[in-house]
Amino acid sequence: MTETAGRQTERLPGDAAGVARAAALLREGRLVAFPTETVYGLGADARSGRAVAAIYAAKARPRFNPLIVHVADAAAAARIGRIEGDAARLADAFWPGPLTLVVPLRPEAGLSDLVTAGLDTVGLRVPDAPLAGALLAEVGGPVAAPSANPSGRVSPTTAEHVFEGLSGRIAAVLDGGPCQVGLESTIVGGAPDPLLLRPGGVPAEALEAVLGRPLLRPGEGAAVSAPGQLASHYAPSKPLRLDADAPRAGELWLGFGPGEAHHGLNLSEAGDLGEAAANLFAHLRALDAMEGKGIAVARIPRTGLGAAIADRLARAAAPRD
Ligand code: TXA
Ligand code: MG
Repeated sequence: MTETAGRQTERLPGDAAGVARAAALLREGRLVAFPTETVYGLGADARSGRAVAAIYAAKARPRFNPLIVHVADAAAAARIGRIEGDAARLADAFWPGPLTLVVPLRPEAGLSDLVTAGLDTVGLRVPDAPLAGALLAEVGGPVAAPSANPSGRVSPTTAEHVFEGLSGRIAAVLDGGPCQVGLESTIVGGAPDPLLLRPGGVPAEALEAVLGRPLLRPGEGAAVSAPGQLASHYAPSKPLRLDADAPRAGELWLGFGPGEAHHGLNLSEAGDLGEAAANLFAHLRALDAMEGKGIAVARIPRTGLGAAIADRLARAAAPRD
C-alpha cells in the first residue's frame, strides 16, 4: 500500500499558493516532490517515522540507504548536525548550493531513525533554488528527500519525469520547471579529513580550493562506508557503451561538443560541461524511449562537473541484475 492508494497526485504550481499547499501537505506527513537546483526531491517530514517510511515505500528503496535532510539555511542545519572545522568552511563557501555535508547527528534534533538508517551521522543540504527555499522556510522543519524517482531509475529533472515514475504513489508534485544543475549534490563526509562520498554539482576542484588540500576518495585513508553508492543506480533500460568514437550499427549516439552529427542527441554542442550536466538525465530518458539497441556515449572530459557526469554514466552502464 502506498500513502495515496487510490488517490491522484496533485500538480502544484510553482508560486506562493503551490508552496503553501506543498508545505501544508508535508506538515500533515504526506509526500511531496519539489524542485531543487540539482534534481527533484521526494520530500517528507524528517521527524515523522511514518512519513519517512512512506518515501521508502513509494520509491521501493532498500531500507539501509540513508536520506539527505534539507533545510532552509545554515542555522537550521546547525541545529540538526554538528558542523565544525572543514565542514563549517565548506558550508560557508557553498551553501546554499549543490553540496551535502555528512556530519555528526545531534540526537536531540528528533529525526526519525529511518532518515539516517540508524547511523550517528546525518547528510545535510541547503538547496539553492528559490522554490525549495520558500518551501523549506514555510515548512519550518527538516525535510528528508531522496531523488524523486523509483529506486534504481534515472533521477528526475522535470515535474513530468516525477509523474512518469511516481504518479498515484505520492500526494503532490510542486512544478518548478527544469532543474538548473541537473545532477545530484556532491556529498562530502569524514573527519578529520574530508572524504568525497559522491561527485556532484560542486566540482571537487572547487571544494579543494577552499580546503587548501585534496579530498580523500573512498578507499583512501580510514575505512568509511558510503551506503547507497550501489554500482548500478542511474539506469536506463538500454545498454550504454562509454568513451565511444562513433555509434555502431543500431546504436543511438549521445554526443558531447561539436563534431560529426549522428542519430541521437548531444549533451552540449558547445562542449560546455554545465550544459551537459543539466541535459544528462533528460537525454538518457529520451534516448531510452527512442528506437535503438544501445546508446554509445562520446568521450567527456573528467575535469570539473565532468567527474560527476562520468560517475553517473559509469553507474548507468554498470551491469545490473
Ligand atoms: O542533489 C541531491 O542530493 C538530491 C536532491 C533531492 O537534494 N538528493 C539525492 O538523494 O540525491 P539520494 O537519496 O538519491 O542520495 C542520497 C545519498 C545516499 O545514497 C547516501 O549514499 C548518502 O546520500 N547519504 C545520506 N546520508 C548519509 C550518511 N549519514 N552517511 C553517508 N552517506 C549518506
Ligand atoms: Mg537518487
